[in-house]
Amino acid sequence: MRVLSVVGARPQFVKLAPISAAMTGRADHVVVHTGQHYDELMSDVFFRDLGIPAPDVNLAVGSGKHGAQTGTMLAGLEPVFEEYRPDWVLVYGDTNSTLAAALAAVKLHLPLAHLESGLRSFNRRMPEEHNRVLTDHAADLLLAPTEVAMKHLADEGLGDRSVLVGDVMTDVLYRVRDSAVAGERTAPNGLADGEYYVATIHRPDNTDDAARLDRIVAALAGLDRPVLLLAHPRLVAAAASAGVSLDRGSIVLTSPLAYPELVSAVTRSRGVVTDSGGLQKEAFLLRVPCTTVRPETEWVETVELGWNVLVGDRVEDLAAAVERPRPDATSAAPYGDGQAASRVVDVLLTRGREGR
Ligand code: UD1
Repeated sequence: MRVLSVVGARPQFVKLAPISAAMTGRADHVVVHTGQHYDELMSDVFFRDLGIPAPDVNLAVGSGKHGAQTGTMLAGLEPVFEEYRPDWVLVYGDTNSTLAAALAAVKLHLPLAHLESGLRSFNRRMPEEHNRVLTDHAADLLLAPTEVAMKHLADEGLGDRSVLVGDVMTDVLYRVRDSAVAGERTAPNGLADGEYYVATIHRPDNTDDAARLDRIVAALAGLDRPVLLLAHPRLVAAAASAGVSLDRGSIVLTSPLAYPELVSAVTRSRGVVTDSGGLQKEAFLLRVPCTTVRPETEWVETVELGWNVLVGDRVEDLAAAVERPRPDATSAAPYGDGQAASRVVDVLLTRGREGR
């Protein structure tokens, strides 16, 4: 059986790692990189560190407005799908690369499976929300990470196409945690274990409004411990054009980290401040308190279990949230047991044989 995975953005490379390993010896796995992310630190380093074979095809689409970027990918993917004629097209998460691949697959009547299906923020301002809803409704097989995701799919009439497989990010995180933390690493940038925060901000809702960006950066700069700010290219560009200095107060400004370094830095930190989806969950799995700079989250379990606090419009509440006492310990495992990727391959092989 041939499975063709389409990835393009940083979190998708992380999810690809356990899938790629689980495919070995079980399926002919073709990897297509759209080129949505292309910087060394946003792309190549993940393939190298996570032991993922180089993509079979790289469309090198690059950055652009949503329509132009998604359209260029769609046009580029069509001939690739025609050439490989996979038994399954597998798409990951909610990026523009995912939506483009979903459209290209259904137009060619190729079976489409969506990994990390069923997540909802119910915030229609997020490009990811359109991408994930449209992809779920186009797909033949919905591979859901959580019970909550399964419920969302059932509510939308998609229950009979849905399978609960667990979260593949748990697979890769546990594998990397055990090697990264056991290794020789120390806290980054000369910081002291347990005495700094890790922060990432990259969502357009936070970066593209100069006044809001300034309030967020000022709140980070005023925290009671050093804040390792891992600056996404959009944050750097938006801050420069808004005249907002990122390098001030408690902030220790640095480039995005490779995955093992990120896992190590988070593990050794006192807390995480982020608007990333994946990092909220990674913080929870590492049992590091998280503060999310968004009005809502797809990963509601992290909030219900007390390990994540949302700070939406009230940026002035950020310091109190970040500096809060450590939450109660929990042994809850809403994101699976670290074996999701092999379950994904099982389901693809079984459903493929059954003609879906
Ligand atoms: C994308 C995903 C988002 C995911 C994020 C992870 C969509 C709609 N969003 O957002 O869900 O959380 O990836 O990072 O697909 N840039 C570079 N170098 C790169 C890549 C991007 O400089 O290698 C800059 C460009 O100026 C670009 C901007 O970052 O315009 C945004 O990149 P883009 O891929 O459009 O969206 P992300 O914010 O990264």
